[in-house]
Amino acid sequence: MISSSSFLDQVTTVVPVSVLLVLVLPVLVLLVLALTKLFSGSGHQGAEEARAVLVTGCDSGFGRQLALCLDRRGFLVFAGCLSPDGAGARGLLEQSSGTLKVLKLDVTKEDDLRQAKSAVLEHLPEKGLWAVVNNAGISDWAEIEWSSTQDFCNMLDVNLLGSIRTSITFLPLVRQARGRMVFVSSIFSFFHCLNMSAYSVSKRGLEAFADCLRVEMASFGVKVSIIQPGNFGRATSILKEKSAADIWEKLDLEQRRSFNRQYVELAVDYYKSTCRSGFQEPDMVIDAMLHAITASRPQSRYLLASRVDWLFFRLFPFLPTVLSDAFFSLSSMYSKRKQLLYAQ
Ligand SMILES: NC(=O)c1ccc[n+]([C@@H]2O[C@H](COP(=O)([O-])OP(=O)(O)OC[C@H]3O[C@@H](n4cnc5c(N)ncnc54)[C@H](OP(=O)(O)O)[C@@H]3O)[C@@H](O)[C@H]2O)c1
Repeated sequence: MISSSSFLDQVTTVVPVSVLLVLVLPVLVLLVLALTKLFSGSGHQGAEEARAVLVTGCDSGFGRQLALCLDRRGFLVFAGCLSPDGAGARGLLEQSSGTLKVLKLDVTKEDDLRQAKSAVLEHLPEKGLWAVVNNAGISDWAEIEWSSTQDFCNMLDVNLLGSIRTSITFLPLVRQARGRMVFVSSIFSFFHCLNMSAYSVSKRGLEAFADCLRVEMASFGVKVSIIQPGNFGRATSILKEKSAADIWEKLDLEQRRSFNRQYVELAVDYYKSTCRSGFQEPDMVIDAMLHAITASRPQSRYLLASRVDWLFFRLFPFLPTVLSDAFFSLSSMYSKRKQLLYAQ
């Protein structure tokens, strides 16, 4: 007698469940993502002239561009600047309408946040503070063994705690307006490649905070979005030049023996060439930020990369660790590094 077995039983006798999952899961994930994108409305809220937005890190880069765009669209923009008397802030004032306000805002300083809040309250329009864009950030790269605990603390203080401080300070105002909280993260929040540990830790922490905030704020009508730019190094001032000599000087004898000067040079060249391949214009990121602020149904995440990279980065977090780690260990950079480590 032929026993009655389900379709799944029949299929799994031919193809193991794990293989099925690896094949079917990415397709399902892409389908869900495409549907989410389709239903994320671009219908704008309107009445922008009556709304205020605070953006941090407006001295340069995405923050500066976003502040100018929002100003042109009629928002009252509070542009947080690290150096309010610097060239970036001066240029911002020159290029914007008379309503944009530059605020001194170092996100690592509670005093700056208190004073910024007083200034916002003083000039707040009737419809209140509609959105806060946590954009201020720094970036650096290094092997974990080349880094000190202080290096990690500095990165976290700006990229993670800076956004947490800013959110806690301004959340009551955004909640009253049933507005938007936007967090500028990075692909490195989930793409754990060589040399990006401190930055990755800061951005992964930032996304954990933003995700928890989204859940808590849903019942208050506040929407939370995460922006995940890929490589836009040529479009902003985020990249700081670092030579092999700068790194080598800071290594002790044991580290020099383990890592080898040639590898340090290779890492510097690799970093430079990767940065050179990035987008030159910030438009894709600015459009996503505007969507997060103005669309009636903003996305919870905006991944911004070329089409091919987008697909790869979308699937990457769903890979089993053994495959995602293999992706790195099979790369040419990784194998060159392996040959050079410990070598004289
Ligand atoms: N560009 C990319 O490829 C890329 C990719 C992924 C994510 N991101 C993220 O995008 C955000 C904006 O960066 P960007 O690319 O536009 O670089 P950027 O041009 O360097 O802008 C970052 C801004 O933050 C400011 N800042 C630094 N420390 C600060 C502090 N303690 N308090 C307040 N402001 C501070 C900087 O001021 P100074 O100019 O005075 O230093 C600068 O104006 C960052 O969160 C970054 O991690 C960028």
